[in-house]
Amino acid sequence: MLLKEVKRYWNKLETENLDMCASFTLFRLLKNNNFKFKNTNVLDVGFGEGQNLVEFKKRGANIHGIELRKEKIKKIIKLSKIKKNNFYHCDLNISFPKLNKKFNLIFSLDTFNYLTRSKQLDFFKNCHNHLKKNGFFLIHYPQMQLIKKKDKDIFDYEISDKNYAKSYFFEKENPIIFLKNKDIIEIINKNKKRYKLISSIFDTNTVSKKNSSKLTINRFLLFKKN
Ligand SMILES: C[S@@+](CC[C@H](N)C(=O)[O-])C[C@H]1O[C@@H](n2cnc3c(N)ncnc32)[C@H](O)[C@@H]1O
Repeated sequence: MLLKEVKRYWNKLETENLDMCASFTLFRLLKNNNFKFKNTNVLDVGFGEGQNLVEFKKRGANIHGIELRKEKIKKIIKLSKIKKNNFYHCDLNISFPKLNKKFNLIFSLDTFNYLTRSKQLDFFKNCHNHLKKNGFFLIHYPQMQLIKKKDKDIFDYEISDKNYAKSYFFEKENPIIFLKNKDIIEIINKNKKRYKLISSIFDTNTVSKKNSSKLTINRFLLFKKN
């Protein structure tokens, strides 16, 4: 059952300490859409190592977060020197925490795809209830993974069906769900009254150590509260 698998998987990674830095695609996308950082309330759902929250704090935002892993909450409190009341320990596959604030931005990178379908739908609804007027809502997830069919020249960067095959190369234990376009479109349509989709962009990364044969395409969807 997905709920248990997700909990088990992330529990095992409770003390993993990744060396991360903030997502430039996220910050550029927000800037391009006139998001003002100073004195705004932001909530990062599934903040992990907390690298994006640290960047928001640098830019003057009031930071808040939700996480399944207690160690990550301890880490962000230490890193940011922000009071612990701003961080919520919770499993979104069980419930959404009680938040006594409203936010200018709620965002979630690579976390929505660990939620059951019904909790994905609840997530859109709960975030809407916690957004201020004209607030921004952003989700990001790996849309596709591609692998080179033949080991070509490493400088060959043309991404075409000719050179790449669809493939999913996350480790077997990782319970990630790859969201199909039709599923995400259905969620967007069900939430048309709540949000307006204002931007859909992607970035890519190669995950392998030795070559660039494996490519992940990450989707960013930015909404504005109606
Ligand atoms: C792939 S990591 C992404 C971390 C961070 N957002 C980033 O982009 O670097 C997913 C994060 O979501 C958290 N997470 C996964 N399932 C969750 C759930 N059901 N409820 C709350 N947090 C969850 C994990 O603990 C982990 O830190």
